[in-house]
Amino acid sequence: MNNNLKKDFPIFKTKIKGNPLIYFDNAATTQKPQQVIDAIVNFYSKNYATVHRGIYSFAEYATTLYENSRKKVADFINADLSEIVFTQGATDGINIIALSWAENNIQEGDEIIVTDLEHHSNLIPWQELAKRKNALLLSIPITNNGELDLPMFEDFLNKRTKLVAVCHVSNVLGTHNNIELITQKAHKVGAKVLIDAAQSIAHEKIDVKKINCDFLVFSGHKMLGPTGIGVLYINKKIHKEIHPFKFGGGMVFNSSVEKSTFKEMPYMLEAGTASIEQVIALDAAINYIQKNINFDDLKKHEAQLCAKLINGLQSLPGVKILGPVEQLKKNGHIVSFAVDKIHPHDIAAYLDEFGICVRAGHHCAQPLHQKLGIDSSIRISFYAYNTIEEVEFFINLMKKLLL
Ligand SMILES: Cc1ncc(COP(=O)(O)O)c(C=O)c1O
Repeated sequence: MNNNLKKDFPIFKTKIKGNPLIYFDNAATTQKPQQVIDAIVNFYSKNYATVHRGIYSFAEYATTLYENSRKKVADFINADLSEIVFTQGATDGINIIALSWAENNIQEGDEIIVTDLEHHSNLIPWQELAKRKNALLLSIPITNNGELDLPMFEDFLNKRTKLVAVCHVSNVLGTHNNIELITQKAHKVGAKVLIDAAQSIAHEKIDVKKINCDFLVFSGHKMLGPTGIGVLYINKKIHKEIHPFKFGGGMVFNSSVEKSTFKEMPYMLEAGTASIEQVIALDAAINYIQKNINFDDLKKHEAQLCAKLINGLQSLPGVKILGPVEQLKKNGHIVSFAVDKIHPHDIAAYLDEFGICVRAGHHCAQPLHQKLGIDSSIRISFYAYNTIEEVEFFINLMKKLLL
């Protein structure tokens, strides 16, 4: 990895209680490079106007910047322009699928499959939909190793299965799911597939054509971009099954007091004034990733950090790594663990004294923690700017605490 990456992120000049900031909470949200900050400041100070409405050239330029971002996103994940809907984030994207597609395409007696690895965002919209429709919600269990029980998944599949909603990478265990295989198997029974790529989009090449999924969601703020912006990919093969559910300005083709007609995809799902500066800054974030982060190098770098972290933690008494250890050492960026008789919050507070930010809690995955038989865990999640020295510093502090 390029060791100079940190210099692009002004936040790393910040001291936490007199210590350099060591940021290990990238699965929650990533830090922002100057280029993304500049994109927002420049838009506000030089180009700010609304999009898709103004006829004056200034507003047309804002529309160009906004639509250029859609093109950037489409190219980034190998989609077509009409397949990219701007949302507020991954949660919003999943809820939009529930309301614009599932509401009309899932009926009483139909089945929805999720997994025990899901973030609340990819579970509760389906619980609620199943309740509304009298449909059945099934969850693929995990093995002792923290990987999906795929034979059980195959047992669940049948002609009543209408949707399989699965995360690409677990935000707790770091498990990397074989989404191509899952998609292929689900399609065989005619089910649609939703991929929650919130934890993979910043770490590897996502190619929606290769995955062949029907829906895919992610958030801008987990990939160096701002909050308040996300992307929902909807495969154009199913655009005819999508119905608008949020109505207002921007999505109308023609309107009279008696009736209205609506624009085609993606605009039919983008009612109201858009998150313009966030969309433009997402373009800058993707630009930054494309120019500065090679995904093969990133994978090696993050795997090294995970291996160092796991080996260090495993040498300590009372520490239990929760995820698929061997997989994480090869292809991980998230590692969660628990320590005997010490609450995760106490460990996070101890590390905070040294400028280290880690996540402690259930990470919006309570059902998974229940299955693991614990209330909460400590999560370390890496990105390109983290270093081996930071992991060593962390392990030394854990040694002081536990030895
Ligand atoms: C796997 C996964 N899915 C969905 C989400 C929700 O993302 P957001 O809160 O940006 O909508 C998260 C956030 O942590 C996540 O980790």
